[in-house]
Amino acid sequence: MSETGKSVFLVDKQTGVETELPVMGGTIGPEVVDIRSLYGSTGMFTYDPGYGATGSCESGLTYIDGEKGVLLHRGYPIEQLAEQSDFLEVAYLLLNGELPNVAEKAEFDEAITKHTMVHEQLSQFYRGFRRDAHPMAILCGVTGALSSFYHDPTDIADPKQRMIASRRLIAKMPTLAAMAYKYSMGQPFNYPRNDLNYAENFLQMCFAVPAEDYEVDPVLAKAMDKILILHADHEQNASTSTVRLAGSSGANPFACIAAGIASLWGPAHGGANEAVLDMLNEIGDKSRMAEYVNKARDKNDPFRLFGFGHRVYKNFDPRAKVMRETCHEVLGKLGINDPLLEVAMELEDLALKDQYFIDKKLYPNVDFYSGIILKALGFPTSMFTVLFAVARTVGWISQWKEMIEDPTQRIGRPRQLYTGPSVRDYKDLSSR
Ligand code: SDX
Repeated sequence: MSETGKSVFLVDKQTGVETELPVMGGTIGPEVVDIRSLYGSTGMFTYDPGYGATGSCESGLTYIDGEKGVLLHRGYPIEQLAEQSDFLEVAYLLLNGELPNVAEKAEFDEAITKHTMVHEQLSQFYRGFRRDAHPMAILCGVTGALSSFYHDPTDIADPKQRMIASRRLIAKMPTLAAMAYKYSMGQPFNYPRNDLNYAENFLQMCFAVPAEDYEVDPVLAKAMDKILILHADHEQNASTSTVRLAGSSGANPFACIAAGIASLWGPAHGGANEAVLDMLNEIGDKSRMAEYVNKARDKNDPFRLFGFGHRVYKNFDPRAKVMRETCHEVLGKLGINDPLLEVAMELEDLALKDQYFIDKKLYPNVDFYSGIILKALGFPTSMFTVLFAVARTVGWISQWKEMIEDPTQRIGRPRQLYTGPSVRDYKDLSSR
């Protein structure tokens, strides 16, 4: 962040007192008004519930231009990464700031592969859940429990320990997620296999059964890897901000990631991919689409069209475009003719022509098509957000590491506008 030499002035109309606030600049994107001196000079806070216009930190990981539908990871466009890179390479890029060379890539892939197993005792945690427990509930609980296996040696002030914790989480999240799926199916857990890459390994841990050999379908593995790339990181979204805030107190990184999983679960955030499928199933066919678009338009109806709209993207979510192409690719290669894809495409077409959606700039987001591909890959709806969490663990831990390494970092502690009762004296029970 650098001084721009510009500043803005707050003028108190009553007193005429002016408060000068410096404008700071980054590499690309909106400049920021540095308000750190505001309370000291005016006795006032800013007010921005939902943080729609508030920069909570300085970051070099991901840049989004919502108007132009741009998403960059360390400067590389998401479309290029999705087409030419692989998920672990994007993980390396987010963690370290640069794409790895041949040796660095080999070392990182090897390190992640060798950390995919979890402590054998951890499998006992799963047995405490009901079989019908939502896999996100299981993943949230078990990830938090991981902190009890590594709490002592994780000195987050030590860069080496931070990198070990980061690699452990990236490596183990697919294993924990696959175990949550197997548990919900009543099938035995599969151990990771070191002869498979990250996406292949995840698919085999989810879908292999002891009764027969399991061959990873390269088409599905490539699609899985691309879906993980598309969900890796996304600036200061709700779950990432949760991880940063939890981590700002110095909390154990495993516990911070568990907090991120909890936030991601909401249907307004990562839970939307599950909600999209439920919505498409509820709509059922084209004849009912207009009814649902009208419900989404109706201010008195809480219904929203899941998979549409975004706090930042006021144009197409670039991930949704790649996801839509992948959707057609996977279903075409698998020869699946999913009527839900027809419904989704029709719904997208209808919504994009609807004046309400045009006025509100509501476009399909990353969640709109992901569910259809995940269903084609064989995952139940309840696993969709779990897959989002597996991918986003890379972003969460990279953002956590960036925060801890920020020399200006301090505990996050927002203020408020108090609208409760003024001071008053306690009343005895007899006089109430
Ligand atoms: C993700 O932040 C990220 O980066 C998130 C994410 C990531 O990678 O981390 O991109 C992943 O969470 C994608 C979003 C998934 N959620 C959904 O698809 C759920 C449906 N979408 C909405 O709930 C909503 O669009 C949000 C939550 C995504 C964004 O909400 P905002 O920014 O708070 O916008 P808003 O609710 O203020 O909406 C602006 C207007 C409102 O109308 P008015 O009050 O101005 O009259 O648009 C309307 C909303 O009612 N609106 C919708 C709508 N989304 C917004 N109306 C109908 N259907 C919708 N989907």
